[in-house]
Formats: sequence, structure tokens, C-alpha cells
Amino acid sequence: EELKEEVQKFVAEKEADLESFRMKFVSRKSVLTDLFDAFKDVPPAQKKDYGVALNQLKVLVQDRFKELVSGLEESREATTEAKDLTLPAATDQIGGIHPLTALRARIIEIFERIGFSVADGPEIETDWYNFTALNFPENHPAREMQDTFFIEKDPDVLLRTHTSSVQVRLMESGKPPFRAIMPGRVFRNEAITARAHCIFHQVEGLYIDEGVSFADLKDTLYHFAKEMFHKDVKIRFRPSYFPFTEPSAEIDISCLICNGEGCNICKYTGWVEIAGSGMVDPNVLENCGIDSEKYTGFAFGMGIERMALLNYQVRDLRLFTENDVRFLKQFSSIL
Ligand code: PHE
Repeated sequence: EELKEEVQKFVAEKEADLESFRMKFVSRKSVLTDLFDAFKDVPPAQKKDYGVALNQLKVLVQDRFKELVSGLEESREATTEAKDLTLPAATDQIGGIHPLTALRARIIEIFERIGFSVADGPEIETDWYNFTALNFPENHPAREMQDTFFIEKDPDVLLRTHTSSVQVRLMESGKPPFRAIMPGRVFRNEAITARAHCIFHQVEGLYIDEGVSFADLKDTLYHFAKEMFHKDVKIRFRPSYFPFTEPSAEIDISCLICNGEGCNICKYTGWVEIAGSGMVDPNVLENCGIDSEKYTGFAFGMGIERMALLNYQVRDLRLFTENDVRFLKQFSSIL
């Protein structure tokens, strides 16, 4: 009985305690072995009680030994865990800002600093806002150039092909001066390639007031290109045509991917078109209820994906919408 109590009360704080328990109760030289050896000398009348007690002790010893071993292991784990301050903290996977979102924010910031506000409009438009108000004559080939996705015919309802529709909405909504940019998603029924997609993003701009000139347009877009890329970027204006502007010009910058050496993005010309622009056609002003004798203005429109290719040196704009984390992860630190 005394031994049973000793076994039950035994505590092992360290390896050595466990070893002394083992020597005393478990090993071949233990008290247990001695007691078993003594069995043969026990008088026959007491043999049964002796045997039962001895076996109980044996089971107790085995159970207690197992407990002591696992107890010591647990406390060893607990203390090492508590002490290892060099282990890296468990980190959560956090997302990043999408490169197109980041770029749009940057474009907005550049224009806000020179006095432009931000205007918004619907993606599903009527013929009036996407075409007619913008001086696209009925059955004019310029409408076909836009590769429109139609939702309904007669009267036409469509997915906007440019955010110029928001310019019309803005001009209809009040009186000049207007100075705003219109970021948004646009749709064109075009083949998807490294340079073009059927869904993409634009930022258009509009400035209408008394005495706004072509010089103001050039100044604004030069300022933008230098802020957006770098101050030595080469910029050129090329005469062009849009139904809603007269005169019209396209703006190219020197290709930032190949430095003019020639690549798929600049079609081996060394120049990349970044925006269309021009002086708002008086017909458009009149369509929107603005006195074209009193007011003049300029408009421009640019593609965010195109800008992103140049800015991040990416050679295929499909990457921006494929949601491949291996690609997106590379932008996780941009703000
Ligand atoms: N809306 C034109 C386009 O999407 C771009 C543009 C806007 C051109 C404003 C001139 C003036 O191609």
C-alpha cells in the first residue's frame, strides 16, 4: 500500500526524476522485481492476496510511468514554444490594389490638381448620348468605326463605346464652365489581342469656358504626359479626325517599352498613341444647349490599359483581366 501511494504521488520535473522512477519501479533491478522474486517464499494461505496486490501495483506503475513520460514531453514543448522569440509571426495573405485601379487613381490625381473634377455616367447608353449628340451623322461610316455592341435596335440601346457620352450628359446638366474628367469602362466588338480588348477603360476630359483655345489643350496634355511618365518623355500631336472635335489631333509618346527600338506595342514605329483630342465641334455644343458663339472648349480621351502597358512595361494587356495571381502579386506594393 505504501508503495502504491509513492507511485501515485511521484512527480517528474526533469529527465533525471523520470530515470529514478524507472530504476526504482520499472527496471529489472526494481522493487517490483524483488517483490515478484519474494512470491515463492510467501506462505500458501497469503499467496492469493499477495499476488492480487502485486499485480495491481504493477499496472499502477505502468500507467504512472506513461503519464510521467507524456507529461514531461508536453511541458518541454510548452517551454520551448514560449521561449522561441525568433519564430516568424503567422502572416495573413493580403490582396493588393489592381494595377488598372492604381493607374486610374493616379490619372485622376494629376487632373484634379489642375482643377478637373470627376464625372460619371451609365455603361448602357442610347444612340443620342453615344453618337447623335456627338455629331455622328446618321448612316455615317464613323459609327461603324466604333464596333458597337447593340442591345436593342430602333430606338438603339447599346454598350457605350467611349465615355464621351458622359460629356454630353455633363453639358446637358448645367451651364459652363465645365472642367471634368470621365473615367469608365467601355465596350467595342473587337478581336482580343495583346494591344486591344473588347472591354477596356478610358478617361476622357472636357473643358468648356469662354476663350478656351487649342493652346490650352496642348498645354494640359503636355503637362499630363510629363507628370504621368517623366519630364523628358517625347510627345507629338498628329492631325486626326473625330466627328465631335474640329480640329482633331492624336497624341503619341515615345515608346517606353522598347525606347524607340521597335516592339509589338508600338507596332515597330517607336511611338505609341495615348489619346485622341480636339476642340469641341460647335454642333456638339449646340446639341447640348450651349451657345457656341460664346463658349469654346477642348476634349480628350485616353485608354487606361494602353497607359498601363507603358507605365508597368507589360507587353500584353490580356494579363490585366486574367486574374492570374502570379501576375497580380507583382503589383502588391503599388499604391
Ligand atoms: N472618344 C474618342 C474615342 O473613344 C476619344 C476622344 C475623346 C477623341 C475626346 C477626341 C476627343 O476614341
